[in-house]
Amino acid sequence: MERLRALTAEGLTKYPEREPVERIVAAHFGLQPDQLLLTNGVDEAIHLMCAAFLEADDEALICTPTFFMYDVSVQMMTPHLVKVQADASLQFPFDRFMAAITERTKLIIVASPNNPTGAVVGREHLLAIAAAAPQAVLLVDEAYYHFHGDTAIGAVSSLPNLVVARTFSKAYGLANLRIGMLAGNAQLLKYVRKVCSPYNVNGVALNCLPAAIADEAYLTWYAEQVRTGRARMMAGLEELGVPFFPSHANFVLMKIGPQHGELVTAMRAHGVLLRDRSSDPGCDGFVRITIGVENHVTKGLAALKASLEEIGWNKQ
Ligand SMILES: Cc1ncc(COP(=O)(O)O)c(C=O)c1O
Repeated sequence: MERLRALTAEGLTKYPEREPVERIVAAHFGLQPDQLLLTNGVDEAIHLMCAAFLEADDEALICTPTFFMYDVSVQMMTPHLVKVQADASLQFPFDRFMAAITERTKLIIVASPNNPTGAVVGREHLLAIAAAAPQAVLLVDEAYYHFHGDTAIGAVSSLPNLVVARTFSKAYGLANLRIGMLAGNAQLLKYVRKVCSPYNVNGVALNCLPAAIADEAYLTWYAEQVRTGRARMMAGLEELGVPFFPSHANFVLMKIGPQHGELVTAMRAHGVLLRDRSSDPGCDGFVRITIGVENHVTKGLAALKASLEEIGWNKQ
C-alpha cells in the first residue's frame, strides 16, 4: 500500500519499464534476466505461449478438468486441442496423458496444483512428459505453488523445453494489479518476447512487485493460514459426510450432487460464495470452496453446516 500511496501524477504519464523489475524478480528466483518474462497475469502468459508456439496444424495437449483459459487461448491458434479426461478420482491421468503425445504436439499445459481439482503432478512425471515430447514446449502452471510447495522452476536451466508460470494473484494477493511471470529456457522465452507487447505490464504493478516479493514474512504467514485452513475444511467436510477431493491448492472441490445449485444459493444468503463447477468436464454436481484466513474458514464451515441443513441435503 505504501508503494501505491507514493504514486505521482507525473509517474503516471510515463510508459512502464518492465526490464529493471524483471532483473530484480529474476534474481529473487535465482534466474538470469533472460530466463524470466513478466506478464499481465498468467492469463496473458498462457496467451503468449500459445501465440509463440502453436500454428494451425499443431496439436496442444491438456488434461481436463482444468483452468478454462488454456482452452480459450489454444483455440485461438489451432482447432487441434487434445484433452485427456481424468477418471472419477480426478487425479492426473499420467499414462493416458503420455500416450496422447504425438509428433504434432507442440504445446503441453499442465497445472500443478490443478484448478478446480487441487490435484498435483509429481516432478518426475513432469520431467518425463518434457522428455517424451522434445518437439513440444511443456508449460507448467504453478499458480497455486505456495499452497503446495513443490516446484519445477529448478529444472528450467537444464530442460530446454520447460517453461513454468507463476502468478502474483493468489498467495501474494495482487489479482487486481494483473501480474504474473514465465520462467524458462532463455531461447524459448526469446520467442515469447517477440509476441509480447513492450508495455504489457502496467507501471503500478511493476512498482509494487519488488516490495511484494521482498515481504517473505507475509507470504509465509498467508500460505500457512491456507494450509491450516484447508486441513480444517477437509476435516469439517469429512465430519459433515460431504465427499471431497484432497486439495493442494487454496480451495477444495466437493461433491454435492443434484442440489449443487441450491447449496450455492443458500451459502450466498450466509455471505459465503461458492463456485459451481458443475459444467466442468466430469464435475457434474461439484462445487468449490475457497480457503482464506482462519476466520474465513470458521465462517465457511458454519455456513456450510447451516446451508446443508436448510436445503435438506441428501448424500447421493
Ligand atoms: C491454474 C490457473 N492459472 C492461472 C490463473 C490466472 O492467473 P492470473 O490472475 O495471474 O491471470 C488461474 C486463476 O484462477 C488459475 O486457476
